Amino acid sequence: MFQPLRTGLVILSAATLLTACGEPEDTRPGQPVKQRQTAFKDIIKSFEPMGVMLRKGTYDAERVEKFTAELIARRDLPWGHFGPDTNYPPTKATPEVWSKPAEFEQEKQAFIAATDKLQAAVQSKDKAQVGTAYEAVHDSCKSCHKQFKAR
Ligand code: HEC
Repeated sequence: MFQPLRTGLVILSAATLLTACGEPEDTRPGQPVKQRQTAFKDIIKSFEPMGVMLRKGTYDAERVEKFTAELIARRDLPWGHFGPDTNYPPTKATPEVWSKPAEFEQEKQAFIAATDKLQAAVQSKDKAQVGTAYEAVHDSCKSCHKQFKAR
């Protein structure tokens, strides 16, 4: 059941690794690219451990609650750093972020709604519901990345 999820996470982890090796620094004042990238890295730090627990059967309701609360607290942080004229190296964003703002906004709202559902599932303490809701959040990451993040 969690097979597709695994593939996706491997891709996300690879993206994280790539950043480590030899990309240009963000030298602009305020470092908007670096700030949004850091915000996404923080999001994945709250998100990925839950996937590991679900896949490995090491589900810990208390930890899932903590990570979900963290994810909710972090879910709004990248977006304010996508200002006009911030499409420059080392960004991995595609130009569509700026040319299709309505679609980008829609993907963002879908992600936020999916995290609301995850929180509700976590509060229900129904592990199967959490699994389904987790996958839906993961699908929302992938759906946005498909158009708006370069691979
Ligand atoms: C609405 C669109 C959108 C959603 C939803 C979204 N992302 Fe992203 N993500 C992006 C964009 C755009 C970038 C590229 C940012 C840049 O490099 O300027 C990115 C970058 C990243 C990065 C790379 C950061 C780096 O530079 O190393 C990670 C990791 C990441 N996202 C994880 C996630 C995870 C996990 C989720 C879901 C829980 C998620 N994203 C949801 C658009 C999105």
